[in-house]
Amino acid sequence: MLKRWSAAVLGSVLLVSTLSACGGENASDSSSPGAAKGDGKITMGFAQVGAESGWRTANTKSIQDAATAAGIDLKFSDAQQKQENQIKAIRSYIAQKVDVIAFSPVVESGWDTVLKEAKDAKIPVILTDRAVDSKDTTLYKTFLGSDFVVEGKKAGDWLVKEYQGKTDPVNIVELQGTTGSAPANDRKSGFADAIKAAPNMKIIASQTGDFTRAKGKEVMEAFLKANPKIDVLYAHNDDMALGAIEAIEAAGKKPGTDIKIISVDAVKDGMTALAAGKINHIVECSPLLGPQLMDLAKKVVKGETVEPRILTVETEFTPEQAKAALPDRKY
Ligand code: AHR
Repeated sequence: MLKRWSAAVLGSVLLVSTLSACGGENASDSSSPGAAKGDGKITMGFAQVGAESGWRTANTKSIQDAATAAGIDLKFSDAQQKQENQIKAIRSYIAQKVDVIAFSPVVESGWDTVLKEAKDAKIPVILTDRAVDSKDTTLYKTFLGSDFVVEGKKAGDWLVKEYQGKTDPVNIVELQGTTGSAPANDRKSGFADAIKAAPNMKIIASQTGDFTRAKGKEVMEAFLKANPKIDVLYAHNDDMALGAIEAIEAAGKKPGTDIKIISVDAVKDGMTALAAGKINHIVECSPLLGPQLMDLAKKVVKGETVEPRILTVETEFTPEQAKAALPDRKY
């Protein structure tokens, strides 16, 4: 019995130190699981996607600041955009018997097994920012975040309006987010649906830029080489749009004028480019989910019922609106 217990403890200690060694885990106190601490403080294990964008950095800060303000003991891990790292982190939180697990799933599929393990361990799970495609919705308590299909639709609607009354062909290139992620899937489908209203609009190339500036630049360079006439760039986030702007300028074209640009997020750097006329329109996606997440965590730990879907309130920005919003923009 003692042997089995020691093996189990050793197993979880190894898992935690593996995560720490690869820079994945920033545990505030990995030796004292929430339920066993007896100090009345809630312990949350949060498995973050990574640090791929300005949006993500702001989201991480919001979660860390809100945890401190709410008196929640936060164990935080960065999965570096890899699903296997997120699964490892969640298993380590289960082994540590945290009170609640929250995560933003890097991709939509493949979560049922680990979510079932959390459910069997009676640890409630909250999805933030991104959804999973599990049929079994009892595997998590709630999903807090944006409607990415609506975001894609807003981007497409803006474009259709911008070209209203014009019948010449409009060649669009698309920089997709991380392959298989909810925002990439949904922003793509929402946009495609909206531009059906304008038969002259055509997506001539669409590829992932992994939500990063470097990849956005690299893929845009390839788009520019392969396509002599690009009228519009639709980027699934600001960071990829900013990388693409560098590629467009290096090719001797004027972003925002020679090639119209629409993106999603509205982080400070994106809004600065919008105010400068290098981006034409931004659909907002708010990363400030921390305070709502901590409130939900307190409720689910108490066993209270919460709404299964909590939508983030968001807007859109024109260059003029970006200029007005920039002085107070927090991220
Ligand atoms: O899931 C939200 C998306 O992830 C943001 O729009 C993007 O910038 C981030 O990397």
